[in-house]
Amino acid sequence: KTNNLCDFILFGGHGDLAFRKLMPALYHLCKDGYLAEDSRIITVSRAKFSAQKHKELVKNKLIEFLPKESYTQEDFQRFEKKLYYVQVDFLNSKGYETLEKLLNEYEKRDRINYLSTSPKFFAGICQALKEYKLITSNSRVVLEKPLGKDLSSSQEINKKVLEFFKEDQIYRIDHYLGKDTVQNIMALRFSNRLFVPLWSSNHIDHIQITVAESVGAEGRWEYYNEYGAMRDMIQNHLLQLLCLIAMEPPCSLDANDMRDEKLKVLKSLRPISRSEIASSTVRAQYTAGSSMGESVLGYLDGEIKQSNTETFAAIRVDIDNWRWNGVPFYIRSGKRMQKRNSEVVIQFKTMPHSIFAENNCCTLLDNKLVIRLQPQESIELRLMNKIPGLSETMQLQEVNLELNAPDTHKRKSDAYERLILDVIRANPTLFMRLDEVEAAWRWADPIIEAWENNLVPMKKYTAGTDGPTASIQLIAQDGRSWNDE
Ligand code: BG6
Repeated sequence: KTNNLCDFILFGGHGDLAFRKLMPALYHLCKDGYLAEDSRIITVSRAKFSAQKHKELVKNKLIEFLPKESYTQEDFQRFEKKLYYVQVDFLNSKGYETLEKLLNEYEKRDRINYLSTSPKFFAGICQALKEYKLITSNSRVVLEKPLGKDLSSSQEINKKVLEFFKEDQIYRIDHYLGKDTVQNIMALRFSNRLFVPLWSSNHIDHIQITVAESVGAEGRWEYYNEYGAMRDMIQNHLLQLLCLIAMEPPCSLDANDMRDEKLKVLKSLRPISRSEIASSTVRAQYTAGSSMGESVLGYLDGEIKQSNTETFAAIRVDIDNWRWNGVPFYIRSGKRMQKRNSEVVIQFKTMPHSIFAENNCCTLLDNKLVIRLQPQESIELRLMNKIPGLSETMQLQEVNLELNAPDTHKRKSDAYERLILDVIRANPTLFMRLDEVEAAWRWADPIIEAWENNLVPMKKYTAGTDGPTASIQLIAQDGRSWNDE
């Protein structure tokens, strides 16, 4: 476990993501013995902090964000030995000499540069790293989303970073790929013979992908209002889920084999034309309502009074390839929905013919495989089953076969733990390659543009519900319904 020796340089290390996710992930890696004893975690940020004050801040934030049982004084004492702080002003390159001195104590060591900053600083940081000769063949750079707001801004960001790092040194994070439950989609599909013949338009009617959140945009207005559900969730997390469901079996788990297959799916996404945009997409904003028993403000009742940003999006996606011809994927994501729930529903086709009497007890419901990712992982298969008894005609009922993973009582690791460890191990399988990001934008751009030109009306939905009625209509117009209806 412990040859993972590196200097982990966390730019923007006093930001929300760093305290909420990255430091807790690093703490757990250290606690579980995945970081070599001499590894260093060097926070780089603009604020003036002494090393001691920085450690105190990290400690308080860990206590705030870690599960209670994870934090112990003893583990923190081991962790804090790895903590360093360097004050750098990203805009005028002040402070890099200190970083240079620190890093050059171990010139040959792997260096992970984690850019948890706004993308507007990426180029400046890379430029400064280069000027101070801090980029070596053992350096890697991790880029946090959002990587642009459309294809051209994303290309611009990537082009800049590529001036300093090679593609195989760049790790573009989509934290959904780090979730165990998401990786389990691969295990389910590619290690169970049962599903192999069923997984195509021959037997599948349609697929639904839902990522619903109960939280709103509070605390992140400035960021969220610029991005909205399409750029924040659909273009990345939901499309990645769709790729894992729709991709052909890769020839190995090698990073490029996997990414080649995902890329093929992204390239096969049918562009949504202007004439179809209103019938294939829905966008909406939440209004005041209640969430988990508490009344909450609407999207426009807080800091922002006027906005054309969607907090909910639902889209019918078609994939133009042999496997998925005629099988729509309905995808949706929203904030302030009824409950936190992420799931993939594989809806199988109707039986070709029923031999059972046509009455209430014998209506054949179509088989359905529900892969629930959050909040609890589960896999359910809906089957038809005989109702026991001596009735004259055979009576059937639907039963759910639940495939619950055995509870090992082990703490579930967070997506960021897996991803940070993979960067340290130099394994890019779960990171997005440049061509994947671009293909995703290529598909998303025309939708965003049509929405910005108001070709699709902005609907409203009450906070704490399943989204606007237009989302129900989106799927109902094809004679189908969402799994929650
Ligand atoms: C982030 C988005 O990428 O994912 C957030 O920026 C969203 O808006 C979050 O809340 C959801 O992640 P998770 O892991 O809580 O489902």
